[in-house]
Amino acid sequence: MKANTNGKGYPCNLEVITLEECDSTNTYLKRNYDQVKDKLPVLVTSPLQTAGRGREQRTWLSSRGKGLYSSFGFNLAARQYLNMLPLISGFSVIETLQAASGISNMELGIKWPNDVLYQGKKIAGILIENIIMEPQLFCIAGIGINLNHTKDDFPEELAERATSLKMAAGSDREYAVEEVNPLLARFLFKWLEKLEAGEQKEIIRTANRYSHFLMDKPISFHQTRDRLISGIFKGINHDGGLILESNEGNKAIYYSGEILCH
Ligand code: BTN
Repeated sequence: MKANTNGKGYPCNLEVITLEECDSTNTYLKRNYDQVKDKLPVLVTSPLQTAGRGREQRTWLSSRGKGLYSSFGFNLAARQYLNMLPLISGFSVIETLQAASGISNMELGIKWPNDVLYQGKKIAGILIENIIMEPQLFCIAGIGINLNHTKDDFPEELAERATSLKMAAGSDREYAVEEVNPLLARFLFKWLEKLEAGEQKEIIRTANRYSHFLMDKPISFHQTRDRLISGIFKGINHDGGLILESNEGNKAIYYSGEILCH
């Protein structure tokens, strides 16, 4: 064990709050900002969420024993880094999944900006929420990883589009949150250090590498709920935006939205 980790494998400076159950670890951090603000960085984790939240007001299924539900709260020095947060959270999930199970990183990828896929199926989701507390930015990186689901654990509408670490690794064993969380924390804080050290080029290179399965492919993209755009995915630009090429060959950059799964 490295000297900068505690007895459970977490970074030494990380305050870990483990709840028996909660509505949502992201909501808990927002609600309790005043209590945690002097202890940052903090990790709130719970084996069960009764009101787990996904992006676009969706629900994140959060049954006990199936997934990892964790929210990291930390201050970020500069707003220019905000577009990078979902990306580095995704890298951290990929590195964690590999380290925990040995599955190949060729099969893992990010679907800009917030999803982690295994063989094209969603294995983890990320919900970033920020509270501006001038001059600081308080960021919440909420991460849900499907650990021990079998196909039958997903509702019918997700069964063909979602997977879990157990399914990906083809393993009989269950993955324990206590084993996966410290890995996730270490990888996330490694990337946050790089971000704050200005290593944006490496981050964008990595984001493009992990977008390999979409590169130069036709995609449909919800810029807003009511506006669907089609084009060719041309990668991620220097400040974390999606590059989309229209049928006429024009390139446009988008900073929010959602690529549809095909
Ligand atoms: C998505 O893909 O829509 C994002 C899902 C994010 C789920 C995680 S689980 C931990 C944290 N708490 C929440 O309520 N949501 C995030």
